[in-house]
Amino acid sequence: MRTIAILNQKGGVGKTTTVVNTAAALAIKGKRVALVDLDPQAHLTIHLGINPEELEVGAYQVLTQNVEAKDAFIEVRENIFLMGASIDLVGAESELVNVVGREIILREAIETVKDEYDFLIIDCPPSLGLLSLNSLAAVKEILIPLQPHFLALQGLGKLLETATLVNKRINPELRVSSVLLCMYDARTSLSSEVKNDIEEFLLGSRDSQCAWNRAELIPTQVRRNVKLAEAPSYGQTIFEYEPKCNGAVDYMQVAEYFINSISPKEAPIKIQEIEHKSDEEVLSDNQTQEMNEAID
Ligand SMILES: Nc1ncnc2c1ncn2[C@@H]1O[C@H](COP(=O)(O)OP(=O)(O)O)[C@@H](O)[C@H]1O
Ligand SMILES: [Mg+2]
Repeated sequence: MRTIAILNQKGGVGKTTTVVNTAAALAIKGKRVALVDLDPQAHLTIHLGINPEELEVGAYQVLTQNVEAKDAFIEVRENIFLMGASIDLVGAESELVNVVGREIILREAIETVKDEYDFLIIDCPPSLGLLSLNSLAAVKEILIPLQPHFLALQGLGKLLETATLVNKRINPELRVSSVLLCMYDARTSLSSEVKNDIEEFLLGSRDSQCAWNRAELIPTQVRRNVKLAEAPSYGQTIFEYEPKCNGAVDYMQVAEYFINSISPKEAPIKIQEIEHKSDEEVLSDNQTQEMNEAID
């Protein structure tokens, strides 16, 4: 199972839209896709037509009540399975504060379903707190969606720093695998400037030992397309709402990119072993504090 967290601590950059529509495209291609909504705003859950208030088991119960992952995924479409979010998730971070190993609860839960699905994709909340840490501990890849405006790269340093810390301390397999430009407008020079800046930045990291030294800019940019913004209010994916629009074409290409690209673990470039601690030696309070400071 290929495991991907869609992460950017900024809201409104296209995370949820990317999760829903990439998953829908993968499902059309015959892949079995598990989705986890870790955002207490439950946008992913709502976008897939599920009312968070009626959700009986979801991410909150898995994180705080030992509910097994297999009981928390519901089939929401052919080939798409959702571990939904409800408003209770807001309280999960504080409820777990004294729980030993709280950063790896999700990882342990999904370990039990890894043979069931081809892809697991996690929609992260717009913060780098405990919920995002749980997602980074549980996956091998991070996809960073970016909206190409002039502050696009602001905050990226902190995000990458967090990825590095998690890589070192709890998940040595974690890599930033890709960056996706969302709401792209080819007519503006700003969009292509941001694209060039990112390409340059990623190329400049190739020889370093950081967690993003093999990250790629996904060759498809998701164009700004109003249909993508309309589909959520109908509880539909873009392939249900307007299957021929640019948004559907772009997300189908993103899905094809993932099907055709190899996961970082299988990538041929040899990277040096990064010093890491074992699963048991999870983050201490000080380290969590440090991580939170790094990202504030
Ligand atoms: N390519 C796009 N074109 C137009 N609107 C988009 C596009 N991608 C996302 N949106 C809209 O932008 C808003 C923010 O996107 P969303 O995926 O919810 O971001 P995030 O999950 O990062 O907060 C939503 O209203 C969404 O429908
Ligand atoms: Mg979202």
